[in-house]
Amino acid sequence: MAEKELVIPKHVAIILDGNGRWAKKRFLPRTAGHAAGAKNLEKICKTAYEMGIEYLTVYAFSTENWKRPQDEVDTIMKLLNDYLNTCVKTANDNKMKCRLIGDMTRLDSSMQERILKLEEETKNNTGLKFNIAINYGSRDEIRRAVTKIAEEVKEGSLDPKAIDESVIANHLDTAGLPDPDLLIRTSGEERLSNFLLWQLAYTEFYFTDVFWPDFDEKELKLAIEKYNERDRRFGNAK
Ligand code: IPE
Ligand code: IPE
Ligand code: MG
Repeated sequence: MAEKELVIPKHVAIILDGNGRWAKKRFLPRTAGHAAGAKNLEKICKTAYEMGIEYLTVYAFSTENWKRPQDEVDTIMKLLNDYLNTCVKTANDNKMKCRLIGDMTRLDSSMQERILKLEEETKNNTGLKFNIAINYGSRDEIRRAVTKIAEEVKEGSLDPKAIDESVIANHLDTAGLPDPDLLIRTSGEERLSNFLLWQLAYTEFYFTDVFWPDFDEKELKLAIEKYNERDRRFGNAK
């Protein structure tokens, strides 16, 4: 019997977790785990696109991750910088359209420039829409959105009575993106850690014990198979 065709979620979000434990298991420094994780991110973008996923949003560095030891933060920032640099070169080959979500203002100026360049150079690409969350925290994102909305009300360009859900959504970093259909978190943790609190209202969650550097095509396919077993009701009766 022919294999039933899988419904591919349009938007997949991933909390890339478990780099440190992946390294520890191999008696390597945590930073080696981050390097392996960055490499895996390149692979998964390609896999996601080949599978027909339209939007991929990944959580790479949270507003809370600054609490980590300085040398670890420095290594992660260096890897992300290198990653963005490679992306500038490769995104156009695979038609990937890149966008950063999070508060860029705390990143160093060379990284900010790199991000703007990446967004600018890939803005007309029609392949995978790839969103990378760096210095992202959902509460911080909502706080920034509220500030913008308050400013518009103060200026007189927005009537408070006109603030509906779409106005709020359009002031978030993810403005214009559909909400994720599937959220994946690797490494066995089952929490959101401040990721996309507004956007995940009706998203299906999938948790796996696999550490991020080991999350490959097979694992992504497994997550999508599980997603296919879900019955999304969006509050409706069935
Ligand atoms: C995810 O891996 C990467 C970041 C949060 C930057 P971790 O570094 O959180 O790995 P674990 O959770 O300690 O194993
Ligand atoms: C969440 O992972 C943030 C990212 C993956 C970027 P953490 O490892 O920072 O989350 P907690 O501390 O386990 O909640
Ligand atoms: Mg972690």
